[in-house]
Amino acid sequence: MRQSTVIAPSILSANFARLGDDVAGVVESGADWVHFDVMDNHYVPNLSFGPMICEALRPFAAHAMMDVHLMVEPVDALVVPFAKAGAGLISFHPEASHHVDRTLALIREQGCKTGLVFNPATPLAWLDHLMDKLDLVMLMAVNPGFGGQGFIASTLDKLAEARRRIDAYEQLSGRTIRLEVDGGVKTDNIAAIAAAGADTFVAGSAVFGSQDRRATIAALRAAAEASREP
Ligand code: DX5
Ligand code: ZN
Repeated sequence: MRQSTVIAPSILSANFARLGDDVAGVVESGADWVHFDVMDNHYVPNLSFGPMICEALRPFAAHAMMDVHLMVEPVDALVVPFAKAGAGLISFHPEASHHVDRTLALIREQGCKTGLVFNPATPLAWLDHLMDKLDLVMLMAVNPGFGGQGFIASTLDKLAEARRRIDAYEQLSGRTIRLEVDGGVKTDNIAAIAAAGADTFVAGSAVFGSQDRRATIAALRAAAEASREP
């Protein structure tokens, strides 16, 4: 069953000299979640921000959930600091953890929702034994590390496959899992992405690069919802 549409602006494309204002502004403009891209110059070739920045921004996000995307290796050492900093959901890349099941348990122990992130070349087979431990599956439509990259078209077929797996699991278990897409989401491709099965959409440059963020978030949501099956 498809969940309600969530638009999650990535603050990787915000103005770092005024992050608090940008976070508050984007939430006032209709963002459901705030997507927080953590990069370590090890798992990905870039460096962004850590738990102290997350904690400082948490009050500016008001009711919006902090959707923390860890692009770090190893993972476990950062789970507790981000949970304490106010993360609502923590996602990570399975290649970056030696013990994926243990990392997922650690995230839940900290009271956060769990997410597993798939790079463009990472097979969905990682889901075979983990569905019970997941609240969200996230497919990267770009290789992680940078905002503003182009959407990799083959992600659409992969989203459809992930949707099938989630639907089958939900029917058996009665639990729901969100399907998030990250990278290259714009107002002109979000309809196709939603039609392929995503319900949760990260948008960095599309939102923060726009002159009218409220209008852009509304346009993203409207296009995503219009393309969904009744
Ligand atoms: C990439 C990040 C994405 C990225 C999205 O490593 O995980 O969240 O910032 O930015 P856009 O929407 O500009 O592709
Ligand atoms: Zn991200």
